[in-house]
Amino acid sequence: MDFSKIEKIHIMEHPLIKHKISLLRDERTGTTEFRNLIEEIAMLEAFEALRDLPLREELVKTPIEETMAPFIDGKKMAIVPILRAGLGMVNGIHALVPSAKVGHIGLYRDPETHEPHEYYCKLPSPIEQRLIVVLDPMLATGGSAVEAVNFIKQHGGKQIKFMCIIAAPEGLEKLATEHPDIDIYVGNLDRCLNENAYIMPGLGDAGDRIFGTK
Ligand code: PRP
Ligand code: URA
Repeated sequence: MDFSKIEKIHIMEHPLIKHKISLLRDERTGTTEFRNLIEEIAMLEAFEALRDLPLREELVKTPIEETMAPFIDGKKMAIVPILRAGLGMVNGIHALVPSAKVGHIGLYRDPETHEPHEYYCKLPSPIEQRLIVVLDPMLATGGSAVEAVNFIKQHGGKQIKFMCIIAAPEGLEKLATEHPDIDIYVGNLDRCLNENAYIMPGLGDAGDRIFGTK
């Protein structure tokens, strides 16, 4: 699949994002710095992913005169991290849109089959009226992202965007094929998956590096 020809796939080119992803990859980067970088990259990607946010006009009185000025209606947005690692990206988006509501989708990958298993899901209502931004730093086989979007659609979600920091071509193709209607934002497209379905070169296990577990 030639990703550059697919309008719904947005692969980041900004040097700040590239630089911060390189720091993330480094195995010497500790938990605190790793968490801060995930948050910063999420914020930078959101700058791109939210460029079509709807605006409403409100009257503002400046020291000079009254004027109609544009405002974002953040109450119409839902941020939905895929647990656990997606949680690391939430503050980065909330810094930009503090009034966005937060849903959660709990999925873990079976270490043998690499299939996603659901353990918790809660979405803010009315979900069908919201712009929904699904967050997960890693798009590996794509199983977790596809399941998360399936769940959101089954519950009425319509306008969905997916943001990840690192994607493997295998996972990006799966998500774009199974959900061709959603916009997908990717910090960096890596080479491939290894035999354990980890992304190469990747950054290891994102959840463990964010939360300091093993
Ligand atoms: C990781 C990651 C994604 C998933 C990606 O989560 O955060 O959710 O794997 O892999 P996939 O594209 O092959 O589905 P994991 O299952 O390790 O859970 P965790 O975030 O709780 O560590
Ligand atoms: N999940 C991760 O955290 N890292 C990978 O490389 C693949 C899945």
